[in-house]
Amino acid sequence: MIPARGIASAADIEHWRSEFPIVGTCTYLVSHSLGAMPRRTHHYLQQFADTWSTRGVRAWHEGWWEVGRETGNLLAPILGVAANTISMHQNVTVAQGIIASCFTYGGPRRKIVMTELEFPSNHYLFEDFRRYGAEVVYVPSSDPIRLDLDRFLDAIDERTLLVPLSLVLFKSACITDARAVIEKAHRVGAHVILDVYQGAGTVPMDLESWQADFAVGGSVKWLCGGPGAGYLYVRPDLAATLEPALVGWAAHDSPFEFAPGPVRYAAAPERFQSGTPNVPSLYSARAGYEIVASIGVPAIRARSLQLTRRLMDAAIAAGYRLNTPVADHERGGSVILDVPNGMAVADELIRRGIIVDYRPGAGIRIAPHFYNTDAEIDHAMATLREIVGASA
Ligand SMILES: Cc1ncc(COP(=O)(O)O)c(C=O)c1O
Repeated sequence: MIPARGIASAADIEHWRSEFPIVGTCTYLVSHSLGAMPRRTHHYLQQFADTWSTRGVRAWHEGWWEVGRETGNLLAPILGVAANTISMHQNVTVAQGIIASCFTYGGPRRKIVMTELEFPSNHYLFEDFRRYGAEVVYVPSSDPIRLDLDRFLDAIDERTLLVPLSLVLFKSACITDARAVIEKAHRVGAHVILDVYQGAGTVPMDLESWQADFAVGGSVKWLCGGPGAGYLYVRPDLAATLEPALVGWAAHDSPFEFAPGPVRYAAAPERFQSGTPNVPSLYSARAGYEIVASIGVPAIRARSLQLTRRLMDAAIAAGYRLNTPVADHERGGSVILDVPNGMAVADELIRRGIIVDYRPGAGIRIAPHFYNTDAEIDHAMATLREIVGASA
């Protein structure tokens, strides 16, 4: 277990930097995409390999079978939910598919309401549920940065079944008003699936008190947990009533009976499991969760706001257009800058060791995390100005 330590002082930040080898080799500002790997992840992955190598099949009954539940429990305080409410899956798409498979789409309540600003795979998945009768409604937004909240709330009505919504929009880092959406959805009997991927680990959340029905996300970004460890939270009272059609033997009440069908559902969270758990990814996710929980998301958020404010001030002074909300309460952990020839500029930044990314229609996404310093922000912005100046 990682000893608790904050990020209040420069020494704390140096300490955490030393736990993430990549930050000593480049200016790593891309944690909205792939968070840096903790040094300790080597240790956990080694532990996985050693267990497999020395214990073989006995490993299932010596910890591997429970590792999904344990990993979900490490994550629970970060999402603000109770223990034993999270199941682990390969990715968000699979987790959403499992939720979607709990419902039928032939009756009057079959509308799925989404913003057009949603992460595309959320569109892709539900779009294809049209074949089962789902009616998919995209709520347009005249502002490419934020949800048109009034329009969105108006679209949620008595015919609405599901409202998949990102807590932080991937293209603009805008924080959506999830509580208003949950409140409206509940008033008309609909369920909200919050995609918390772009928030978890950098934006505090209290999903239980918000009464979120479902939450999905992954570990690749701010949680620094690497690929293959997606998660699904289901509100406990709701979980007990749901029976996913996308189900496998790991969701059976007594999986090792290998009983023929139909499945006898386990209690939650295992009833939302599919097949064999993705054990190495669960080992790889652990160190990032431990570090984020040890620092605490409120402290990470406070530091993130300082870093993104510094970045935005430099961008505004240079006259760059910001495709991110300027107000702190509306902004997640990234800043998106629109500069001429953005893709080429991002490539040149990367070539010079400043790791960022670019999204068409948005711009250069820059994402500091708790292991970044003010000096790195200044260096990135000075280099950006130099590249933009040279290409003008
Ligand atoms: C908000 C959001 N949802 C989902 C995903 C990806 O989902 P999956 O885990 O299915 O790859 C991303 C990835 O960038 C994202 O930003």
